[in-house]
Parts: sequence; C-alpha cells; structure tokens
Amino acid sequence: MFITFEGPDGSGKTTQVAQVAAALRARGYNVLLTREPGGTSIGDQIRHILHDMDNKTLHPRAELLLFSASRAQIVEEVIKPHLALGGLVICDRFFDSTYAYQGYGHGLDRDVLRLITEFATGGLRPDLTLLLDIAPEESLQRRLSAVASGEEWTRLDDMAMAFHRRVREGYHVLAAAEPARWLTINAAQPVERVQADIVAALEPRLPVPQKLA
Ligand code: TMP
Repeated sequence: MFITFEGPDGSGKTTQVAQVAAALRARGYNVLLTREPGGTSIGDQIRHILHDMDNKTLHPRAELLLFSASRAQIVEEVIKPHLALGGLVICDRFFDSTYAYQGYGHGLDRDVLRLITEFATGGLRPDLTLLLDIAPEESLQRRLSAVASGEEWTRLDDMAMAFHRRVREGYHVLAAAEPARWLTINAAQPVERVQADIVAALEPRLPVPQKLA
C-alpha cells in the first residue's frame, strides 16, 4: 500500500508522518517512510537546489522539472522496490504537491503537469492521500516559530501569501475531485488530536500486515 501526506508548509506534516510510521511499525507493518523532494542521494542534492534561498531566479518550469527528476528517482530506487516486497510506503509529499504548488501556486498548465508527472512516476499513484489542512496565516506563524528554533527558511516558504492561499485552494480542489483517495484532516488542532484523527482515518483502510519476503 502506498500512502502519501500532503499539505501546506507548517501543517505539521513531517512530525505527523514520523508518528504514523512508528505507530504502524508497532502494529507489524513493514513501513518505509520517505519524502519528496529527496528520499535518495540524488533527490537530496536536488532538494538542496530547490530550497536554496540563493536560487530565487529558478524558473517555475525548471522548478517543475527538478521536482519531477527527484520523483522519478525515488519511485524507481525506493518506492517501487518496497511495494514489490509487499511493504507499506509512506511518502511525505508526492505528485499532488506538484499540482498544488506548480499548478495552482505558479499557474503552470495542468495538462503539461499531468504528462510530466505520468512520465516521472511511470504511472504510479498513491492508494491513499491524507491532506493536513490549515489556513496559510496559521501555517506561516508555525513556520516562523520553527525557524526561530533553528529550522531552515526555504525559497518556497518565501513565496507570497497569495501563492500559499492558491496552494491551499488547489489542495481542496484536488481532494474534492478524488474523494475515494483523499482524506482531509484538520491540522489546526493540537498535535495529539491530529495524530488521533489520522490513525482513526487510516485504520479501516489498512491491509493485513505482511512480512517482507
Ligand atoms: P518540505 O519537504 O519541507 O515540505 O519542502 C518541500 C517544499 O517544496 C514545500 O514548500 C513544497 C514544495 N514542493 C513543490 O512545490 N512541488 C513538489 O512537487 C513537491 C514535492 C514539493
């Protein structure tokens, strides 16, 4: 099973995915937790280019291709092999981030995005996608406190509030278009409440745990 987590920066996604992965491992699932961009040595190098505040002139089309290159690599090197062994993959962001950020955020042509995404993934799609939904004003406050505690402020954090509003609206459109795949969680709640909601939403959809071959 392939589960992805999506949401704006500052939605608490990274903390939540780590806790979900630990909870599922404790129940006997062979969980591989990974993230985009990154998740491979090549992907991590691409991630650095994408986050770097010195790269403010990166064109949205170049940005799209870098995210897609990182995706092509993680699909082949990490995700497909684990799925082939019967494992469960959890990915912190996947192609829906491209539709939300490069599509709704930057306004790139959606048909082109679909074509490039299909090419990058070889047609692989998540079975389930959880959206950690939060207003951009609140997620910005959270990012600012995280940065005050030492986290990196990235090139994408630095986009205007209007961009982040379009990203959130984009996520809502994507989730509404495929209700069987998406589950929306209110990420503005306290961390423990969000985690409890995620586990409750996942529970009825999980397969029986399998041992890796
Ligand atoms: P994160 O890994 O800390 O969430 O940072 C990744 C950033 O890249 C985040 O701002 C979302 C953005 N992003 C895109 O714009 N398009 C994509 O396809 C992906 C995977 C991420």
